[in-house]
Amino acid sequence: MPRQPIPANGLKKLLTAVDCWYRRHGRNLPWRIGPADRDAGRAPDPYLVWLSEVMLQQTTIPHATPYFEAFRKRWPTVQNLASASWEDVSAAWAGLGYYTRARNLHTCAKVVAEQGGFPQDAASLRALPGIGPYTAAAIASIAFDERIAPVDGNIERVVSRLHAIGSDGTEAGWRASKRVISACAQDMADALPNSQRAGDLAQALMDLGATICTPRNPNCLICPLSEFCEARAQGDPDRYPVKAEKKATPTRHGSAFVLGRGGQVLLIRRPPSGLLGGMMMPPTSGWSEAKPDDPLSEAPGGFAWDHVGEVRHVFTHFALKLAVYRAEAGSRVKIEGEWLTHEDALAALPTVGRKAVALGLGSMKGKR
Ligand code: ADE
Repeated sequence: MPRQPIPANGLKKLLTAVDCWYRRHGRNLPWRIGPADRDAGRAPDPYLVWLSEVMLQQTTIPHATPYFEAFRKRWPTVQNLASASWEDVSAAWAGLGYYTRARNLHTCAKVVAEQGGFPQDAASLRALPGIGPYTAAAIASIAFDERIAPVDGNIERVVSRLHAIGSDGTEAGWRASKRVISACAQDMADALPNSQRAGDLAQALMDLGATICTPRNPNCLICPLSEFCEARAQGDPDRYPVKAEKKATPTRHGSAFVLGRGGQVLLIRRPPSGLLGGMMMPPTSGWSEAKPDDPLSEAPGGFAWDHVGEVRHVFTHFALKLAVYRAEAGSRVKIEGEWLTHEDALAALPTVGRKAVALGLGSMKGKR
């Protein structure tokens, strides 16, 4: 796996170029303290850095931003979030996906509040619930300027191109390639002079990857790193990084049961662990790879279920196809769960549940 080292004096020049670019072109993001404000003495709030990093895992900035703003407004400190109920936190997270993150977020807030604040180094952050190596490095560098390199997809791309780090496209090759990329990113953080902040470097590389060194057609003509970039010198920057080929996503099948009663709909809270753990959902069957012979075999009994259509939702490792059934319950029906107004139900549901309930309630007419 080729790796073109950048000589030490070149690395210093490169770091200066990144810093100058970030000062002029870095993005204005709601959780970010820009370099001019940092110069003026404003410190990042580790709580907001942590919150943004957890939200941004597997989620885009435009999608995560309104959630970030809502959380910050409702729970301005980690102590506030720690004191919130799981019902409120899960409802506020609904639609952000990857629901174990919300559980871990809430558990982590309680631990941090108990400890009196966030620890200030990556190794201690790593010990907190839900904080993996990337998130620990991101918080430590952005909030505390530890010289440690968080490597997300954007930084991975920038660094792999800078050093022309390829792979043979196998899983093992891509894993080895990622180790070299991380080491090169760490070399950059280690080489930072005292006059430059580690948090600025990390966020500058994220921004470069997001706005210039994009997956396709990178804009090398305006890139501050083009003179240092081996992939550009080779004339084919899009070639890097060379990731392992994605496996086809399998499909699982199941049924969702949307039970109405007057203007309300029945939701149940799922068990705390597993997919959609702790989230509200309409009752569903289990999910299986084979299409069930009888999609109503696990339907709540005693109702006249009408089939109203199908919804599909893609999780990380599989796509879920749910056959949606709808029935109306009498006012005196006894059944486990919570009756919510349509509006409250749709607000509290994760996306897959929202798709099923919206279809069941007929509010998706004409949009399918
Ligand atoms: N993606 C993940 N964390 C980010 C951050 N702090 N700034 C920009 N993009 C990000």
